Amino acid sequence: MTPLHVTRTLPEDATDAALRADVRRGLTATPKTLPPKWFYDARGSELFDRITELPEYYPTRAEREILLARADEIAAASRAHTLVELGSGSSEKTRHLIDALTDLRVYVPVDVSESALVQAGQALIAERPGLTVHALIADFTAGLTLPQTPGPRLLAFLGGTIGNLLPAERTAFLASVRRLLSPGDALLLGTDLVKDERTLVRAYDDAAGVTADFDKNVLAVVNRELGADFDPDAFDHVALWDAENEWIEMRLRSRTAQTVKVPVLDLAVHFAAGEELRTEVSAKFRRDGVTAELTAAGLEPAHWWTDRAKRFALSLSTAR
Ligand code: SAH
Ligand code: AVI
Repeated sequence: MTPLHVTRTLPEDATDAALRADVRRGLTATPKTLPPKWFYDARGSELFDRITELPEYYPTRAEREILLARADEIAAASRAHTLVELGSGSSEKTRHLIDALTDLRVYVPVDVSESALVQAGQALIAERPGLTVHALIADFTAGLTLPQTPGPRLLAFLGGTIGNLLPAERTAFLASVRRLLSPGDALLLGTDLVKDERTLVRAYDDAAGVTADFDKNVLAVVNRELGADFDPDAFDHVALWDAENEWIEMRLRSRTAQTVKVPVLDLAVHFAAGEELRTEVSAKFRRDGVTAELTAAGLEPAHWWTDRAKRFALSLSTAR
C-alpha cells in the first residue's frame, strides 16, 4: 500500500489570519456575513455528510445517479492519469469515477477540512492499492498550486459547491481553474439546477434539524478559534429562496437583542432582535448560465448530463 501524502499549502497561522480577517470583515459589515468555508471543521464535515443522507437533500443522490450512468463516458473523454478534486470532502461519490478511470495513477483531493481529507485518503489507499493519493489541505479560492503529476488531468468540482461562491468569486475561481489546466485536460463540474421553491427550501431546512446544526456550527468554530461567546441557542436557522439571484440563502437570526464578544479581535458585535447573519449562498443554475460562465473562463463545454428528474447537472469542459 502506498502511503498517504498530505501537504498543507499554507502555514497553520495563515488559516488563523484568514479566519480573523473574514470574521472581522463579516461581523462589522451590514448586513452581517460569514463565508461558508468556515463550516467545515471535523464536526462540520461530519454534519455535512449527514446532510447528504437526509431525505430532503436530493443533490448528492442526483449527482451520484449521473456519475453512475456517465462515469465510463467521462473516463473515455478525459483519459485522465491524474484526478484532482476540489472540495473533495468524504470523496464518496468520487469512487465511481476512480473505478471508471482505468489509467488513473494519482488522486489529488483538495479541501480545507484536514479530518475529511485524512479519513477519505486513508480509506482510498486501503481500497485501491495501486493508487497514489496526494491530499492537499488548501483553500481552492486562494491561488492553488498543484503537485507535479502525470497528465492528462481531470479536475472535478462536485456537489454543487461552486454555488457557494458569490458571482464575482465564481468568475475569479473559474479563471484560476482554467490556469491550472493544460491543453487536453478537462473540468468536471457539478451544478444544482433551479427548481421549485418548496423542494429547494426543504433541502436547506430539513425536518430533523441537521442543516440547522450545520449552520450553527460556524458559531462554534468562531467560539473555539477566536474565543467568542456566541450562544448557538440564541439564533434560529433560516433558509430562504432569493428568486432574483436564484440562490438559497442560509442565515442565522438573532432571537433577542444581544452583544457577542470576540476577544481575539477585541470586538463586541451587537445583534438587534431578529437581525440576520448570512452564512451561505447556494446558487442554483440553468444550462445557459453555466455554459456562459465556462466559456467566459476560456473553457469549452463538451458534455451536459442531468439525472432523470433534471434536478442536478454535471458538465465536462475541455481546455485548449
Ligand atoms: N464534494 C463533496 C463535498 C461537498 S461539501 C460532495 O460533493 O459531497 C463542500 C466541501 O468543500 C467540504 O468538504 C469543505 O471542507 C470544502 N470547502 C469549502 N470551501 C472550501 C475552500 N474555500 N477551499 C477548499 N475546500 C473548501
Ligand atoms: C457544499 N454545498 C454544495 C452544500 C450546498 O448544498 O450548498 C452545502 C450545504 N449547505 C447546506 N446544506 C448543504
